[in-house]
Amino acid sequence: MTYRQAAKFYDLFGSKNDLEFYKELALQSGNKALELGVGTARVAISIAKVGVTVVGIDNSVYMLRVAKEKLTRESEPVRRRVILKKGDMRSFELGQSFPFIYIPASTFDHNVTVEDRKQTLNCVFKHLKKNGTFAFDLEQAAPDKPEKSWWIDRKETEDGKTGVRSIFTRKNTLRRTLSLDLFYDVYKNGKLLERYHEYGEVATISNDEIVGLLEETGFKVVSIYGDFDKSEYQKGSAKIVLVTRRK
Ligand SMILES: C[S@@+](CC[C@H](N)C(=O)[O-])C[C@H]1O[C@@H](n2cnc3c(N)ncnc32)[C@H](O)[C@@H]1O
Repeated sequence: MTYRQAAKFYDLFGSKNDLEFYKELALQSGNKALELGVGTARVAISIAKVGVTVVGIDNSVYMLRVAKEKLTRESEPVRRRVILKKGDMRSFELGQSFPFIYIPASTFDHNVTVEDRKQTLNCVFKHLKKNGTFAFDLEQAAPDKPEKSWWIDRKETEDGKTGVRSIFTRKNTLRRTLSLDLFYDVYKNGKLLERYHEYGEVATISNDEIVGLLEETGFKVVSIYGDFDKSEYQKGSAKIVLVTRRK
C-alpha cells in the first residue's frame, strides 16, 4: 500500500488514543527514539514536543511529504527533533542504536508475510540498545471476525468541504490477511468534487504468533495490553499492545 491517495486524508480520519501511551514510554527511555512507519509524523511530532528526538522512517513518499509539510508549521526546536528518512522497516540500516523503538497505529500489520515480520523484528533488534524498549500495537486477529466488513466515516475539512471515507475489508483465510479498499469522497454543498481509491493488504497476526516471533528474535515480552489504557489483554480485546525489552 503506497498511501498515494490516503496520505492527504490520513490525519483527518486518523485521530487515535495512543499518543499518551507512546509519549510516556519515550520519556521513560531517554531523549532519543525511532519510529518505524512514521507516516504523517502524527505521533513523532507529539513526542518531539516533550523534548525527545525522533528519527522516523517510512517507505511512502506521499506520507513523508505530508509529514514534512506539517513540520514547517511547528516551532524550530520541534522541527529539529523530528528527523525523517525514506526507508523500509524490513531492511533499514541507520548506523546508530536507540533506547526506544516504536511502531504505532497497527503499522506492523503491514508486514504481510511471516518473512516480512521476521526481517522487521531483526532490524529493530539490531537498532535497539541492550535493555532498550520496543513497543508496538496490532489489530486483534479474532477468528470470528466476519468474512467481509465495511465502515464509513465523515469529517468536515478546514476549507468547508466534507470528506467521506469508506473502507471495505475482506478476509483471506489462507494468506491470513485482510484486503482493504479505501474510498475517499470530497463534497462541497452536496456536490461530489473528488473521489479516490486505494487498495491495500494487511496481516492478521495472532498473539501467540507475535510472542513466539519476538522471543525467537531475542526480545523479552514485558507487557501485553488490550488497549492503550493498559487494560488487561484478552482474546476479545480490540487490540494487542506489546511492550518488550531487548535481552
Ligand atoms: C497506519 S500508517 C501509520 C502512520 C503513523 N505511524 C501514525 O501512527 O499515524 C502506516 C505507515 O506505515 C508505512 N509503511 C508501511 N509499510 C512500510 C514499510 N515496509 N516500511 C516503512 N514504512 C512502511 C506507511 O507508508 C504508512 O505511512
